[in-house]
Amino acid sequence: MIRVAVLTISDRAARGEAEDLSGPAIAQIVQEQLQAGVVWRQVVPDEQGLIEAALVDWAESGQVDLILTTGGTGFALRDVTPEATQAVIDRPAPGIAEAMRAASLQVTPHAMLSRAAAGMRGRTLIVNLPGSPKAVRENLAVILPVLPHAVELLQQGAQPVAYQHALPGEHGAT
Ligand code: MTE
Repeated sequence: MIRVAVLTISDRAARGEAEDLSGPAIAQIVQEQLQAGVVWRQVVPDEQGLIEAALVDWAESGQVDLILTTGGTGFALRDVTPEATQAVIDRPAPGIAEAMRAASLQVTPHAMLSRAAAGMRGRTLIVNLPGSPKAVRENLAVILPVLPHAVELLQQGAQPVAYQHALPGEHGAT
C-alpha cells in the first residue's frame, strides 16, 4: 500500500478564511484510485520555512512514500512552494512536472503559469500540484498511472522501517 501525505499550502485556508477543498480531494482520489493510505494531512500558509519543515518532517519519518502538495505554484509573490520543494529534495524528477504541464496545456493555457516541481528526498517522492480542486484533479490524473512504479523503484533495497531506524546513515542509500 502506498503511504501518502497531503500538504495544502494556502494563506487563506491556514487563516480559516477559505475551506481547503483540494487537500481532501487529493486524499479521496489516491484512496480510491491507488488504494493508498493517507497518513497525514496538514494546511500551512505560503511560508517557505513552514513548507520545508513539513516536507522534511514527513520525508524523514520513514512512514511516507509520496507527498502531494497543493497550491502556491503560481506567479504571485507569495507562491513559494516550488522553491521550498527544490530546497529539500536531493534528486529532481522533472519529467513528472513536465508531463503535468504538457497535459494541462491541452486544457488551459494557464497551465504554463504553474511552476510546480517534483523530486525525491531519500525514498520519498514529493510532487507539487496547483491549488484549485479542478487543477488538482486534472494534474493528478496525468501522474496516477506512474506513481505505483515510481514508489516501487524508490523502495528498492529498503529495509523494514524498524530496521532502517537502527541504521543511521542509511537514508537515501540503495
Ligand atoms: N492545470 C490544470 N490542469 N488546470 C487548471 O485549471 N490552473 C492553472 C495552473 N495549472 C490549472 C492548471 C492556474 S490558473 C495557475 S495560476 C497555476 O496552475 C498555478 O496555480 P496555483 O498558484 O494555485 O498553484
